[in-house]
Amino acid sequence: MTTFRSDATEPAVPEPSTTPSPLTVPPFAVIPGAQVQQTLRGQERQIVDLVEATYRLHAAGDSVNPPSYFLRFPDRPTARIIALPASIGGQVRVDGVKWISSFPDNVRAGVPRASAVLILNDHDTGYPFACLESSIISASRTAAMAASAADWLSRHRRRPTRIGFFGTGLIARYIHTFLTATGWSFDQIGVHDLSADSAAGFHSYLQQTDTGRITVHADPEQLIRSSDLVVFATVAGRPHVTDPGWFAHNPLVLHVSLRDLAPEIVLASANIVDDVDHCLKADTSPHLAQQLTGNRDFLTGTLADVMTGRVSLPDDRPVVFSPFGLGVLDLAVGKHVYDEVTGAGQLHVVDDFFHELRRYG
Ligand SMILES: NC(=O)c1ccc[n+]([C@@H]2O[C@H](COP(=O)([O-])OP(=O)(O)OC[C@H]3O[C@@H](n4cnc5c(N)ncnc54)[C@H](O)[C@@H]3O)[C@@H](O)[C@H]2O)c1
Repeated sequence: MTTFRSDATEPAVPEPSTTPSPLTVPPFAVIPGAQVQQTLRGQERQIVDLVEATYRLHAAGDSVNPPSYFLRFPDRPTARIIALPASIGGQVRVDGVKWISSFPDNVRAGVPRASAVLILNDHDTGYPFACLESSIISASRTAAMAASAADWLSRHRRRPTRIGFFGTGLIARYIHTFLTATGWSFDQIGVHDLSADSAAGFHSYLQQTDTGRITVHADPEQLIRSSDLVVFATVAGRPHVTDPGWFAHNPLVLHVSLRDLAPEIVLASANIVDDVDHCLKADTSPHLAQQLTGNRDFLTGTLADVMTGRVSLPDDRPVVFSPFGLGVLDLAVGKHVYDEVTGAGQLHVVDDFFHELRRYG
């Protein structure tokens, strides 16, 4: 049983206990982005392991991960805010919600597209006990799941040496960081973006961090045909890559942005997802393929199926990984950050956040 000290001057350290403790209201803490980034920097391998353990827990049924809720606006059609509520068991044992905005027009003003908070709720009382800046947590868990997929999905195929980034914003940068930190190196790095500024910014980041030969492709076909690992990280709302012929060399595709590929490409590929029900929603490319065929036979399995050897992958077709992005991953990484910050004695508790605590005053 986890208990928290209710004295706000003390850091809230979870104490293992064999006897049930009385319920207490946990202190409420705020963890800003600087602390999140400081905690996660250099921990890429650990975060990939954590994400893989969470996938296994989810596959074993020790989680609750309902559909994400999409808040959209008639007056701002490109924008959305998504709520990802979730509950995770195992040793993490925490509930919560990620609340993440996507405002693509921000980028033109030099403001990042995505902003987010993560609320962690205490398993025993339901009380929220932390609010964490979560764009870094979200990008990190997304990059960790991409790095994990790149590893597992290429174990029985040729290991890619030529990577192509299709869409070169923050998520592309995080994926590159996580791939290189987990042992990948590439002879060739291709870059393609509709925005020349984004392509140039990513190119200059790569020049500082990678020794591979970097090529900026104005032509998306060239990027795909010259890459055996293709990372889609655009903000496209509907498919813009439609020719299955571009994938004739059977690349591994990390389809992180979910809506780039025409259903014909999905249907010509082996398809791995993170969660079947989640991925067949919200007009993702697999969802469009399901609508076209009326079935889900084109899905090969989940990443957890690959990890446990329940499914194997062909080497004579492209392999496409379409991860919807599960709230349980944010919870696992968020709780890890919370524990690390707490362990370092750096937790910022907001005194008297929960104030009306006596039933009759
Ligand atoms: N599956 C998941 O769990 C998950 C998690 C986080 C982010 N994402 C997705 O990753 C994507 C990228 O996020 P980001 O924060 O890097 O966004 P960003 O706005 O920083 O970068 C996106 C880039 O894509 C480019 N782009 C847009 N449409 C394009 C097209 N048709 N062809 C080529 N380039 C195009 C833009 O010019 C921009 O440079 C988003 O779609 C986001 O929803 C998915």
